[in-house]
Amino acid sequence: MKTLNIAMHGVTGRMGTNQHLIRSILAIMRQGGVQTTAGEAIQIKPILLGRNAEKLRHLAEEVAHREIGRPLEWSTQTEAVLADPEIDIVFDASSTQLRASIVRQAAQRGKAIYCEKPIATDAVEARQLADECEAAGVKNGVVQDKLWLPGIRKLRMLRDQGFFGKILSVRAEFGYWVFTGHEENQTAQRPSWNYRKEDGGGMMTDMFCHWQYLIENLFGTIDRVLAHATTDLPERIDERGRPYACTADDSAYAIFVLNNGITCQFNSSWTTRLRRDDLLTVQVDGTEGSAVAGLRECWIQNLGATPRPTWNPDIAQPIDFYSGWQKLPDSTNYDNAFKIQWELFLRHVVGDGDFPWSLRNGVAGVELADAGETSCREQRWVSLSKTAH
Ligand SMILES: NC(=O)c1ccc[n+]([C@@H]2O[C@H](COP(=O)([O-])OP(=O)(O)OC[C@H]3O[C@@H](n4cnc5c(N)ncnc54)[C@H](O)[C@@H]3O)[C@@H](O)[C@H]2O)c1
Repeated sequence: MKTLNIAMHGVTGRMGTNQHLIRSILAIMRQGGVQTTAGEAIQIKPILLGRNAEKLRHLAEEVAHREIGRPLEWSTQTEAVLADPEIDIVFDASSTQLRASIVRQAAQRGKAIYCEKPIATDAVEARQLADECEAAGVKNGVVQDKLWLPGIRKLRMLRDQGFFGKILSVRAEFGYWVFTGHEENQTAQRPSWNYRKEDGGGMMTDMFCHWQYLIENLFGTIDRVLAHATTDLPERIDERGRPYACTADDSAYAIFVLNNGITCQFNSSWTTRLRRDDLLTVQVDGTEGSAVAGLRECWIQNLGATPRPTWNPDIAQPIDFYSGWQKLPDSTNYDNAFKIQWELFLRHVVGDGDFPWSLRNGVAGVELADAGETSCREQRWVSLSKTAH
């Protein structure tokens, strides 16, 4: 039995607390660790790092007690803990701009590194971080959680079964209304740094890395991008109740053309109200059938079931377009997407299995965000073939 000591930085944040600590790490501890393919058990021992002792203590004592019946270690001495020879893995889910410093310290000390996306706010730094991890010879990985969403796994299954025939196009709608905080009882549900460019915020920086690995894994390599992004709402209210100027894009509209000719359109917006199935819906249209995936569900319509509409605004629409779709059944018990990827990384660290979702792999996501920003600024298509991996 092997025990891995994991230093977790940025764990008091939204992602750090909910997805990584509670739904992944504590859930893995509660289930008794992770099994390797040889049947050995990997146990984990986290230590929570950050600046705010009170928040860390709450997580390490109250939350951990509630979830696993015992407390965790915590510390505000981040540098000292990262230098501790007992630490095997350094994890970072702090705000994007802080990532490089944590990853560098961990690489220099020979620790395995796992971190949130994006790995950096620009492609130059992203490449440097991947280079440094490779030069240090440390195992490393980046969160690419959407690949394990039930809806996306169902789409991949349909693709592998040849359901679509020839895939023609992909249309994704992502987003929801993020309150500005100006109205009473409608506080913002995302951190304020997300809306400040100078603090590493912005829709393209945040979401294009997700779209890059999603498209690459399901549909093919991106050849070029045409993007337009805007800052729709100029002012929001921060965590302390003070107004601040929004300097980052809060909506982005992109066309990605793949090497294989598939056209992918991705709309991403924090200033839209939903009239669709889920916060993210991905529609795939193929010659033999179409599918619409949300986070968990996936609906399909094949060629034989495709209705024959005619354009006639003079009568009420006679076809109920929603009724011609069939909901796919669950084909397995879908575990939390972040937890699945954590388990794969833990096994990889003890030498059990590959982990292709490395920092090098994460560079491509940052390059796509950079290309999107260039396209938007210069109002032109930007080719990715020169930087493709
Ligand atoms: N995989 C996903 O789906 C997903 C979703 C949202 C965010 N993210 C990524 O996760 C990261 C965190 O996002 P979030 O929404 O949880 O942000 P957040 O603002 O809620 O959390 C940020 C964390 O960083 C810490 N932090 C901030 N400044 C610090 C400093 N100077 N020193 C030490 N710690 C500091 C905060 O205390 C907090 O723990 C971002 O990189 C973001 O891109 C990923």
